[in-house]
Amino acid sequence: MSLESPRMPLPPHLVAPDLVPEQQADNASAVYYPVSDTRMVAGEGIHLYDSDGRGYIDCASATFNLSLGYRHPAVIQAIKDQADQLIHVTSGFQTAPINALAHRLVQLAPKTISKAHLKVDGGSAANEGAVKMAQRITGRRDVITLFRSHVGQTVMMASLSGNAFRKQPLAQLYHGGLQVPDPYCMRCFYGQDPRSCGLMCVDRINDFLEFASSGSVAAVLVEPISGNGGNIVPPDGYFAALRELCDTHGMKLIFDEVQTGIGRTGRMFAAEHFSVDPDAITVAKGLGGSGAQVAAILTSDELAGLPTNDHSFTYGANLLAAAAALATLDVIDDPDFLANVRATGAHILGRLEALRSTHPHIADVRGVGLMIGVEIVDEARRPSAALTNRLAERALDHGLVIRTSRYGHGNVLKIRPPLVLTLEEADVICDRFTELLLAEGI
Ligand SMILES: Cc1ncc(COP(=O)(O)O)c(C=O)c1O
Repeated sequence: MSLESPRMPLPPHLVAPDLVPEQQADNASAVYYPVSDTRMVAGEGIHLYDSDGRGYIDCASATFNLSLGYRHPAVIQAIKDQADQLIHVTSGFQTAPINALAHRLVQLAPKTISKAHLKVDGGSAANEGAVKMAQRITGRRDVITLFRSHVGQTVMMASLSGNAFRKQPLAQLYHGGLQVPDPYCMRCFYGQDPRSCGLMCVDRINDFLEFASSGSVAAVLVEPISGNGGNIVPPDGYFAALRELCDTHGMKLIFDEVQTGIGRTGRMFAAEHFSVDPDAITVAKGLGGSGAQVAAILTSDELAGLPTNDHSFTYGANLLAAAAALATLDVIDDPDFLANVRATGAHILGRLEALRSTHPHIADVRGVGLMIGVEIVDEARRPSAALTNRLAERALDHGLVIRTSRYGHGNVLKIRPPLVLTLEEADVICDRFTELLLAEGI
């Protein structure tokens, strides 16, 4: 199929009146953190447009959160309607959107889940709340996470990171995190082959508990697919074994579905792929559809009962966010919509897999649904963060926004476009990616 021009100009209906005067829009010097020279002005569906009139396909769905892409009409309408009615009220009162969202999430979640705690404002706060719930019910303190995992950036969550660079700048760590080897079969910590290892990475947690932990472990907090860590998909049986291990040791199993949840993997929750029932699931990112800030902790009856104000954030349980989340769930909770996520994901995986056989710098292509990672190596087959970063940077010239990250070996390109992707658009992504590899001579 022919390539859409990466220089696709901003469609006229997206040219908005200047909300910010030009000289102010161009002034980035007061922004605390470094930002790119590119200034984005509009987005629609999977497309993003910059101030020079260039169009990009956003293969990162912003920060993996725009499950429905840019300005989905149902989300915009829900926010507008709710804004007219009531934007915010203290979470001590009932409101229809919060009642409805809690009910809907519980209905959609695996059968162990019976409560939704919505007074959180992001994934980090949701994970921290789930840990507090596990601590309260077990009377224990500590948390196991996996190598390479990213579970957030509050001090507690950064301390639980599976990457030293996240913890290194902290003035003081939250003590009590224990990181154990992850199911990264391609580069197995134990040097095993997944066909014969007997899931050693789960079994050896027994040794960690006995010889490396505090003896007071409340929970295992784990991403079903390690997102930032390298799009690592665990082998068959991994979660069943982990569930059993948690039960044996009286630890709660918390699934961090901040990236994997709300349709990203072609199922509402990634837990469904692995046939496992966690004690708690945290969701955030994709629940907001087109970018509303919303998060939730979904728990079993047993974990419910944290005192009302023990984990309560002012902008948690926000009504605009709840309205956006309900509209998002209306779109995603449709068998055809989820089937399309699986089909487009499988199509991209197939095309990238074909590229792998002819491009030695691609060491692996892996993923589930539209959560795909491409592992990049150098001539000696070593993980190459430098080459990965170069490809991500040059992808912009080919009309693709592709993100990588420092986590893990920093050598995985992430292909996670909005879930509204069509098969034709999936092909355009693959065509442009092929063109990028050719242009970079790899
Ligand atoms: C798997 C995972 N958990 C938690 C978080 C933290 O979420 P938030 O940035 O909303 O606090 C992230 C964010 O990238 C994430 O990817």
